[in-house]
Amino acid sequence: MVGQTLWEARKYEEAMESGIRKEERPAFHLCPRVGWMNDPNGFSYYRGQYHLFYQYYPYDSIWGPMHWGHAVSDDLLHWTYLPAALAPDAAYDKDGCFSGSALELPDGRHLLMYTGVVRQPRLEGGFRDIQTQCIAIGDGRDYEKYSQNPVLDAGDLPEGGSRNDFRDPRIWAEEDGTYRCVVGNCTKDKDGRILLYKSQDGIHWDFLSILIENRGRFGRMWECPDFFKLDDKYVLLVSPQDMMPKGFEYHNGNGTLCLIGDFDKETNTFTEEQDQAIDYGIDFYASQTIAAPDGRRIMIGWMQNWDTCNLRDSEHSWFGQMSLPRELSIEQGRLYQRPVRELEKLRENEVRYKNVKFEGITRMDGISGRRIDMEVTLHMQEGEKTLQKFAIRFAQDDICHTAVSFRPYESLLKVDRKFSGSRRAYIHQRRSLVHVKEGDLKLRIILDRFSAEVFVNDGEQVLTITFYTEQSADGISFFADGEAVMDVLKYDLK
Ligand code: FRU
Repeated sequence: MVGQTLWEARKYEEAMESGIRKEERPAFHLCPRVGWMNDPNGFSYYRGQYHLFYQYYPYDSIWGPMHWGHAVSDDLLHWTYLPAALAPDAAYDKDGCFSGSALELPDGRHLLMYTGVVRQPRLEGGFRDIQTQCIAIGDGRDYEKYSQNPVLDAGDLPEGGSRNDFRDPRIWAEEDGTYRCVVGNCTKDKDGRILLYKSQDGIHWDFLSILIENRGRFGRMWECPDFFKLDDKYVLLVSPQDMMPKGFEYHNGNGTLCLIGDFDKETNTFTEEQDQAIDYGIDFYASQTIAAPDGRRIMIGWMQNWDTCNLRDSEHSWFGQMSLPRELSIEQGRLYQRPVRELEKLRENEVRYKNVKFEGITRMDGISGRRIDMEVTLHMQEGEKTLQKFAIRFAQDDICHTAVSFRPYESLLKVDRKFSGSRRAYIHQRRSLVHVKEGDLKLRIILDRFSAEVFVNDGEQVLTITFYTEQSADGISFFADGEAVMDVLKYDLK
């Protein structure tokens, strides 16, 4: 049965959706049906389609009491909206249905596990959340909340765990048919840790272990964990709040963290060998992965970040986008990300240039657009006019542009949206240390109307930014201080 709050949200989103023209949305990145979107939730393959839910407040383009929006896709790029799946309408989730995940039960039903939030006033002023894990079961469209919710609450926390920060369950099935779930938590002094739970049926859960503790290294509370095996290693993806920068890593405040290491099946603990940011741009957070039917591990993230999500004024009828789904692998001990291969099917109008030599500013025939897939290979050469700085400016008109630039002598790549229509003095740039390999730097830039995802060296690093300039700003120009030599391969994306 659909309750009143959900029914109203469904009516509202259906009525408002038609007011947003197709061209006002990204073409192949999911944005909310209307209103606000944050984290991806319940990313799963169910009854022959990809399902993606999202943190959703339909009634305004700012964060509000969380619902779950819902969309389905055959190719991970073109999404069809379904009616909102969850609304905050039960005693244990009345202040929000926070992030969670999904899987298919053996009997064919779709199980969602999410965080129920109840906000309580504090004596000293302000509020604090009570967060528990809850379940809803459905058919891919309508979901019924489990009558015994919550299924995990303060009583299931190991010693010292905060019940105010206990959220974002990520569930999966083991090969033996039992289930596991990781949940973000922190100690009373706000130090993040990931809890591991076990279940026989996906509904009744028991605490298994503390998978890993932060011990003050990476930020404070750890949100949105995901844990899986990849290329003979174990990977923990997590989004820590309040991170401190370390070299050129972790400059986003609310950051992203990938830990690669090993899992001890006896103690159910994870030991990391390697850490890195997941994304080195400005707009990426709260990633979630899926094990696709063909074996690929595919990740999607919220293509915004809490620290900078006020960039767009609230007059717009939607805010928030998902990143491109990205295929993950581990190469030379690092997490690699490549756009899902389905994207190649959208390519048309190939334009190819080889060994273009130039100084100063250049534009090239056929190189423009706001929905493009462009590979630029920069060949580094020593000589009289050694390259000091290289830049690609896109989404360009007389006033605006967004840029990616590279300084060879520092080996720093920068994304920059200072001139991308913002009237606010937010942080608009992010730099990342990159590697020239056998004399080349390879950049693959995907633009989709309001975003750029820059894949460096075949996915060794990714820098993601959003920008909300007019679509008529579609120029692209190249800049070189010194002499640049480059190849360019560009496609429009249908
Ligand atoms: C991460 C997050 C989650 C929470 C959700 C609330 O972006 O803070 O931890 O479940 O957003 O919308």
